[in-house]
Amino acid sequence: MAEIASLEEVLVLAAADADSRQYGEQIVAQREQDNNKCDKEIVNNVLNVGTKRKSDRDINGSISKCVLIASIDKTSEHVTNKGCKRKREGEDDSNKYADGYAKIVASHYNQIEEKGLDERSKSRIVYLRNFHNWIKSMLINEYLTKIKDGKKYNAPIRVHDMCCGKGGDLQKWKKGGITHLICSDIASVSLDQCKDRYTDIKNRRSKDRGGGNIYSIEYIPGDCSRMRLRKKYSDPSMKLDLVSCQFAFHYGFESLPQAECMLRNASECLQPGGYFIGTIPDAYELIARAKRNDSNTYGNNVYTVTLDFDLNKPPLFGAKYNFHLDGVVDCPEFLVHFPMLVKLAKKFGLKLIKTEKFLNLFERMKSEGRQLLGNMRSLEAYPPFDSAATLVGTDPNDYVHASKFIKTAGKNNLHIGTLSKSEWEASCKLI
Ligand SMILES: C[S@@+](CC[C@H](N)C(=O)[O-])C[C@H]1O[C@@H](n2cnc3c(N)ncnc32)[C@H](O)[C@@H]1O
Repeated sequence: MAEIASLEEVLVLAAADADSRQYGEQIVAQREQDNNKCDKEIVNNVLNVGTKRKSDRDINGSISKCVLIASIDKTSEHVTNKGCKRKREGEDDSNKYADGYAKIVASHYNQIEEKGLDERSKSRIVYLRNFHNWIKSMLINEYLTKIKDGKKYNAPIRVHDMCCGKGGDLQKWKKGGITHLICSDIASVSLDQCKDRYTDIKNRRSKDRGGGNIYSIEYIPGDCSRMRLRKKYSDPSMKLDLVSCQFAFHYGFESLPQAECMLRNASECLQPGGYFIGTIPDAYELIARAKRNDSNTYGNNVYTVTLDFDLNKPPLFGAKYNFHLDGVVDCPEFLVHFPMLVKLAKKFGLKLIKTEKFLNLFERMKSEGRQLLGNMRSLEAYPPFDSAATLVGTDPNDYVHASKFIKTAGKNNLHIGTLSKSEWEASCKLI
């Protein structure tokens, strides 16, 4: 078995090396495409939220295109452990590879203060956060609906929220009517906050509605890229319908064994027909921007990215960059070479069924999710409905696209929903 595993590893690495040579070429091609599209998209980056009355809202535009969304379909029972060094039962693999950046990442997330709703609504990036939340809501709802459609009425739905953080998606799971949730994260403080959030939701529910009808939950603290999570499940034979990893899968691309471990964790308990969904930064976009800026460091008044590798020879794993976002994130992350992700996923019995950029998801779902966009305050009204209100963007260019749009539409009393240009540029990353 060990020989097969290492042979497989050699094959994957050989394929990786070939990919690596193409990576630079793909980036150049992508950059040219981006240069052509970029101006058009900025002009289109608006959503018409109506004239005068909020109830008149009408949607016209779209938001930036930075992140990839992958839905991976578990099509067969086949789960392989090949290529993933398999350990003996009972052996702890949390120290199998050197710690790498795990401690730094965990300590970063552990230190992020839990802010109340009030405080969060004052943030410079409030709309960006809300917009990302809307994207997650639509994505989760879409795949839970597919899962329900394929099941008998009231059949149980079990989900794993991998790298769940403070439990930002707990409400979404409640709305989706799931039966059981597994929450895992490397940051134990975040996981504690997730527990508190779940308790709040449950108590609120039982008080308001005379019954705490909410999914059951279990928590797994630990590194999803270094430990086999299944063994920590309350029932290791549990079959899952959905695994969701939002804005976090890229942390596993520190090394090949870590990426494989994360994929094994994502796939091995999924039942055939189940889905893995995730959101990750777009590696091509991050590199293309650096090349456009002729510098490994770039950003604006909201975010800064520093790429820590040779732009002409990005490694397939360990392509480290530092991402800083307006007092919320300041952390090492790793680019995901998407063709490699697809290749590795296949090895673990997962077939890629879709990738979609945020812009496309927004376009596709804006009608269906229109009310939610409003409820979640996912876009900023420009100009504000209340003339005394101030806009979150302070850069002189932050709303040029919006005012251009209004001018072109030729309606003076038009209000549109948008993100400031600075937030939009940061939208390839998460909060
Ligand atoms: C940006 S947050 C996203 C949290 C949550 N998924 C959401 O959408 O709100 C990224 C999360 O990934 C977690 N994380 C990063 N690397 C991890 C790893 N190797 N294993 C488990 N969790 C990890 C962090 O602790 C953090 O909570």
